[in-house]
Amino acid sequence: MHIAMIGAGYVGLVSGACFSDFGHQVVCIDSNAEKVDSLNNGEMPIHEPGLAELVARNVEQGRLSFASDLKSAVSEAEVVFIAVGTPSRRGDGHADLSYVYAAAREIAAVLPERAVVVTKSTVPVGTGDEVERIIREENPAATVAVVSNPEFLREGAAIRDFKHPDRIVIGTDDARARGVMAEVYRPLHLNASPILYTDRRTAELTKYAANSFLATKIAFINEIADLAEKVGANVQEVARGIGLDNRIGQKFLHAGPGFGGSCFPKDAMALIKTGQDNESPVRIVETVVAVNDQRKRAMARKVANAFGGNLRGKSIAVLGVTFKPDTDDMRDAPSIPLITALQDMGAEVRVFDPVGMEQAKKVFENVTFSENAYRCAKGCHALVIVTEWEQFRALDLKELSTIMACPVIVDLRNIYSPEEVERNGFLYCGVGRPKSVAY
Ligand code: NAI
Repeated sequence: MHIAMIGAGYVGLVSGACFSDFGHQVVCIDSNAEKVDSLNNGEMPIHEPGLAELVARNVEQGRLSFASDLKSAVSEAEVVFIAVGTPSRRGDGHADLSYVYAAAREIAAVLPERAVVVTKSTVPVGTGDEVERIIREENPAATVAVVSNPEFLREGAAIRDFKHPDRIVIGTDDARARGVMAEVYRPLHLNASPILYTDRRTAELTKYAANSFLATKIAFINEIADLAEKVGANVQEVARGIGLDNRIGQKFLHAGPGFGGSCFPKDAMALIKTGQDNESPVRIVETVVAVNDQRKRAMARKVANAFGGNLRGKSIAVLGVTFKPDTDDMRDAPSIPLITALQDMGAEVRVFDPVGMEQAKKVFENVTFSENAYRCAKGCHALVIVTEWEQFRALDLKELSTIMACPVIVDLRNIYSPEEVERNGFLYCGVGRPKSVAY
């Protein structure tokens, strides 16, 4: 099939590359000409494991290409995906749909007769209706179907998630469009990935419900972690104890610094707004967002508690600033409010991240960037693990204890055993687990 993918970001680029790997003919279009140029030069604009190889293979075999002008690609496409950003709108927290509607307007004039337009961006209920209205307004002759096909991939594991999804959700009442989408996803269907066909509004709401539910699990276990600290229990064992119950499940029960990233915060907020607009408030999610917002500064206080609540004159090494490992994405990363709070408390902050440094430099002010974990820790009074990159799991604790000014590790991802760290002479503080006696 001929596919045009509008937006070559984390979702559009991965989806486009995977569709081409299935054998479809794909053009990824992005209005950012610099991004398109770098893709045409074989350079990936984002860090995503396996993506460079996947793109190179499909470009070489002539199934995948990149363009900044959508006319020729869209006019030849049987299916046009919209995968542009839907960030939080400044000021009110609603999803900013301006990119989606601009894309709909741009494609409308050049859409071929009977094309299927698919919203892959995460969009509030009713957006598909508006996309359809825009297309009809711009191109009254077109008999176009508009489908909702939300994406559930995770950055850092995006290709595996796309090729082996837990489910694919396709929202449309149009029988012809269903047939086209079945063809688009045929290789996954043959792999026995469940495909859920539903109406468009249900598909749109499903994506927000999924992300908000996952965010709720994280906020829940974080509050249990705080309670565990107060009552002398271990949250990791509680999480295992509840997660082995199939009705609960073990995933998304890792206590930490609170959720962040390019999706959960904005999607939870957009669901709250949809609920309020429809006089059906989603109060659980409202609480989840409020609890999570407070958590980042609370994590900074956790660091300060090691120094009697005052960080003036203290140097703090922060390891990991991207919102999760295996991505360079800094959008809404927990490290941002956490580092601001550390600075507010008087600390001098040093940072190291294995791949996020370039993005981090655009975000942080008055921070020293180090070239590796040990340079970062040297002379510091505390080491704070914020993102659980693999390379932070086996730090040389002996070495760290000799180069740091003060042996304190605040492990916000619980990747170390307290006993092991303490054996090496550190004061250790994790999340929801027993602390060093002296802490
Ligand atoms: P992104 O910001 O990485 O990519 C969006 C791309 O669209 C940018 O490269 C931008 O230049 C381009 N663009 C904007 N307007 C355009 C237009 N009119 N024509 C052509 N290109 C245009 O965003 P990302 O992260 O890929 O997210 C896209 C959507 O997918 C969002 O709705 C997001 O919520 C959703 N999503 C994101 C996931 C993630 O892990 N990043 C996972 C699942 C869904």
